[in-house]
Amino acid sequence: MFLVSFIILAFGLCNVALGQNGGSSSNNGVQAFEMIEFSNVGFAGTYTPVKSLKNIDDSDCTCEVDDKVWFSGTNAPISDEVSVHFRGPLILHQFAYYVSSSFTADNNRTSSDWTRLAYYNATTQTADNVTFLTKAGDNSTCLGKALTYASSNGTSEASDATVLAEGTLITSDEEYVIFSNVSCPSSGTSKGCGVYRKGIPAFYGYTGVTKMFLFEFEMPTETQDNSTSFDYYDLPAIWLLNAKIPRTSQYPSNSNCSCWASGCGEFDIFEVMNGTEKNHLYSTFHTFQGIEDLGTGIQADGYISRSTDSVMRGGVIFDSNGDTVVFMSNDTVFDSTIDADTLNGILASYSTNEIVSTRLETISATAPSTTSKSNAASLFENTGGFLWYYIFTFFTSAAHIFLF
Ligand SMILES: *[C@@H]1O[C@H](CO)[C@@H](O)[C@H](O)[C@H]1NC(C)=O
Ligand SMILES: *[C@@H]1O[C@H](CO)[C@@H](O)[C@H](O)[C@H]1NC(C)=O
Ligand SMILES: *[C@@H]1O[C@H](CO)[C@@H](O)[C@H](O)[C@H]1NC(C)=O
Ligand SMILES: *[C@@H]1O[C@H](CO)[C@@H](O)[C@H](O)[C@H]1NC(C)=O
Ligand SMILES: *[C@@H]1O[C@H](CO)[C@@H](O)[C@H](O)[C@H]1NC(C)=O
Ligand SMILES: *[C@@H]1O[C@H](CO)[C@@H](O)[C@H](O)[C@H]1NC(C)=O
Ligand SMILES: *[C@@H]1O[C@H](CO)[C@@H](O)[C@H](O)[C@H]1NC(C)=O
Ligand SMILES: *[C@@H]1O[C@H](CO)[C@@H](O)[C@H](O)[C@H]1NC(C)=O
Ligand SMILES: *[C@@H]1O[C@H](CO)[C@@H](O)[C@H](O)[C@H]1NC(C)=O
Ligand SMILES: *[C@@H]1O[C@H](CO)[C@@H](O)[C@H](O)[C@H]1NC(C)=O
Repeated sequence: MFLVSFIILAFGLCNVALGQNGGSSSNNGVQAFEMIEFSNVGFAGTYTPVKSLKNIDDSDCTCEVDDKVWFSGTNAPISDEVSVHFRGPLILHQFAYYVSSSFTADNNRTSSDWTRLAYYNATTQTADNVTFLTKAGDNSTCLGKALTYASSNGTSEASDATVLAEGTLITSDEEYVIFSNVSCPSSGTSKGCGVYRKGIPAFYGYTGVTKMFLFEFEMPTETQDNSTSFDYYDLPAIWLLNAKIPRTSQYPSNSNCSCWASGCGEFDIFEVMNGTEKNHLYSTFHTFQGIEDLGTGIQADGYISRSTDSVMRGGVIFDSNGDTVVFMSNDTVFDSTIDADTLNGILASYSTNEIVSTRLETISATAPSTTSKSNAASLFENTGGFLWYYIFTFFTSAAHIFLF
């Protein structure tokens, strides 16, 4: 018990320290950057996939979760397949997904080129390995609205895959999702996409430990008046979810209807958090790598500026070394191959005061080597919370590194 208290206290102190920001900054200590970097990304942990979705069309619907599954390694759990989510006010001009056999941010010698495996270009209406879905299907008390193919305006239902029209503006609260064009096998616990909601067009997300997503987009200021009917008034965002989440339920009323609450993974690339900071784009990990409160997540102590009157280009790199790099640069290109030097050249163009770095906790829990229920997993269960993670957590890694 003492050990637990001590560690929680240590974590609290770390948080206080992290609240301070080096360098010149405003009163609340947060400032603008061009690049947001997280290091030491990826850990060994568990989540509970959804096992069954029952009576989803009735008010007595329920969901059940399965036994814990372990993930581990570089970038885990974001190394799993992810879907790409967009919320308005937003116009998407280009989107691309790349993989590389090996890439290390800031090291040309150990980096190989990136190959584009998915691409959307609004002007040419190209949609290679891209499927636009939206929540325009049947509503369910437990699951909310079902995914459907999106029509060319992004928010209505289409009968089959449709390319998003050029210049499509989605407004506050409106969302669409991009998945790959690789269809899921049938729903089932041991199947490739796990269990998913009946009747949806089900596709895989984008796979890979070392992957990159690039975007050319606008986030113009909302022109409608604010009111309490909005959940996300003028709060645009681009983010990644473990693709299992939207295939069961993105906004469930019961947390067992998606694997989100058990930590299967979310990374927010460019997200406006609140009306007070409506032109600040934050990046956040919603994983259990060193936090107990998944909803708050691990947010960098700095933001990238949202331009409301020009096109923005940038993206996120998950490298082979556990670095996650979010950047905004007009030099971003969407070519079918991007050489490592070109990309590292963009990263090298930022001065140190344009970069904010955050090191995630080292979590040394190990996955059981047998398929039987592990002691670690049952200890974890019996203590009723995530306290055990703190015991496994090494705090000296907690400091943010500010490069001034
Ligand atoms: C789309 O593709 C065309 C042709 O490759 C390219 O010139 C253009 O810059 C791309 N982007 C947009 C937004 O049109
Ligand atoms: C998926 O996209 C790729 C790349 O554009 C294309 O070659 C392939 O035919 C598409 N597959 C399906 C099932 O649409
Ligand atoms: C879906 O149903 C739930 C409860 O049945 C309700 O609270 C919610 O407003 C509905 N959503 C939509 C978009 O109709
Ligand atoms: C989107 O397109 C559909 C037809 O596919 C139309 O019914 C709907 O009104 C449009 N929505 C908006 C917001 O323009
Ligand atoms: C489409 O994306 C999927 C998911 O990452 C990938 O496995 C597949 O190879 C891609 N398809 C093509 C044709 O590149
Ligand atoms: C989720 O499932 C777990 C395990 O079956 C159960 O203990 C918990 O009460 C359920 N939570 C909800 C919100 O139904
Ligand atoms: C707005 O979001 C930022 C980033 O999460 C946070 O630091 C700030 O406290 C929030 N402001 C309000 C008023 O909630
Ligand atoms: C919109 O209104 C909500 C309250 O309904 C408020 O919290 C939010 O800050 C407002 N947004 C802006 C951009 O003024
Ligand atoms: C980036 O390019 C857009 C035009 O495509 C321009 O409006 C904007 O000012 C540029 N941003 C920067 C930081 O140079
Ligand atoms: C990688 O190569 C690019 C282009 O030559 C250069 O701008 C950059 O500084 C190099 N990065 C490193 C870390 O050597």
